[in-house]
Amino acid sequence: MSIQFDLSYANINTSEFENRFGQLALANKALMAKTGVGKDFLGWVDYPVNYDQEEYARIKKAAKKIQESCDALVVIGIGGSYLGSKAIISALTSPFFNEEPRSKRKAPKVYFAGQNISGKYLENLLELLKDQEVCVNVISKSGTTTESAIAFRFFKDFIEKKYGKVGAKDRIFVTTDRSRGALKFMANEEGYECFVIPDDIGGRYSVYTAVGLLPIAAAGIDIDAFMAGGKAGYEEYQNPNFYENPCFQYALYRNVLYNRGKSIEILVDYDPGMEYIGEWWKQLYGESDGKDGKGLFPAAVHFSTDLHSMGQMIQDGPKNHFETVVVIDDEQSSFEVPYNKTDLEGLNYLAGRNIDGVNEKAYMGALLAHVDGGIPNGIIHLDKLDAFNIGMLIYFFEKACGINGYLLGVNPFDQPGVEAYKKNMFALLHKPGYEALTAELEKRL
Ligand code: PA5
Repeated sequence: MSIQFDLSYANINTSEFENRFGQLALANKALMAKTGVGKDFLGWVDYPVNYDQEEYARIKKAAKKIQESCDALVVIGIGGSYLGSKAIISALTSPFFNEEPRSKRKAPKVYFAGQNISGKYLENLLELLKDQEVCVNVISKSGTTTESAIAFRFFKDFIEKKYGKVGAKDRIFVTTDRSRGALKFMANEEGYECFVIPDDIGGRYSVYTAVGLLPIAAAGIDIDAFMAGGKAGYEEYQNPNFYENPCFQYALYRNVLYNRGKSIEILVDYDPGMEYIGEWWKQLYGESDGKDGKGLFPAAVHFSTDLHSMGQMIQDGPKNHFETVVVIDDEQSSFEVPYNKTDLEGLNYLAGRNIDGVNEKAYMGALLAHVDGGIPNGIIHLDKLDAFNIGMLIYFFEKACGINGYLLGVNPFDQPGVEAYKKNMFALLHKPGYEALTAELEKRL
């Protein structure tokens, strides 16, 4: 198994798991048979084995075209429409990907836009790209999301000014609903190549669709290996034996600790490339769990960096949290601590030691310290950081998230709470149709 879940430091009795086996089996069945709550959004469950082959071939072709025709790809999207590809590209490329020479990168630089409402961000990015060859992949399932629509308005104009309306057709790629929404309408009008986000797959579960695949393929990542990882997850995590199924173990571990009164789960990584996996995971669990006053608040920290900022709170603060640590077992580099003959900083005791080995001791030291401080720890072991393993890890988290939502008694596939801020923002921006709310909110400010 390329992913394992180590429960040795979780401080959970076997009986606490076994008491839940009945509920686990029901949740798994409802998910896999697509009969549970939110069943209209369960297309992701078997997508790694049932994806549209024709569209997949088009994704590869478009990725090649992007690689051949541009220095920089701008991916426009927010939430589930960007976090997956950002996470995978960050995990599987150099931390300095965009700064590397093209000969090393063998793919365009990748920038993200539309994931915030910052004029400064857009202004700086457009300025940076003004003399470069640029392609755009705009991604929005609804096709109406304000953040991405604003960014796309700028980039559509930028591309049209640079390459003309006809040239823009070769440089703008749209990923959206099959037939609905403003973006689909615009793509049809302008003749842009379109990729589909299936009706039955929600944003945060869409990484195996064109939402994730087109940007990651354009960045030079092997999407066949990534999909093979997703397929392996789909197959392995159907194993009904809890003790052989790390995905079931993770789902029940969260549920046991939640029911013991823990309110925060902290995802920990020890590799800077995994930072955005933490961001993607936060969205997945935050939007799926947080309903009806229920759910674990998902937080993410990046060690050893954050041991120097958040370590104190984790060690000695209120005992309302537990940690889930993602560890990559394989060495990431052969770099060793150099010997220095003056040894002024007294570091020669590490000379010749692999830096990843030092990082491993930091992990083990923090693990034991936090466990001694009363913080349960679960450890996800990934044997390597590659496209296959990341593809499998995505499935691991998605499936555990679905099961977890069912155990919690919520619909893990909707996000009604996100609408509240949007309504207020539209009213405060005087969007037509919101007049009554505008008047009410303006009185309160
Ligand atoms: O998971 C979700 O559904 C959300 O995070 C969406 O992905 C996000 O709000 C962006 O929506 P859209 O793709 O419609 O622009």
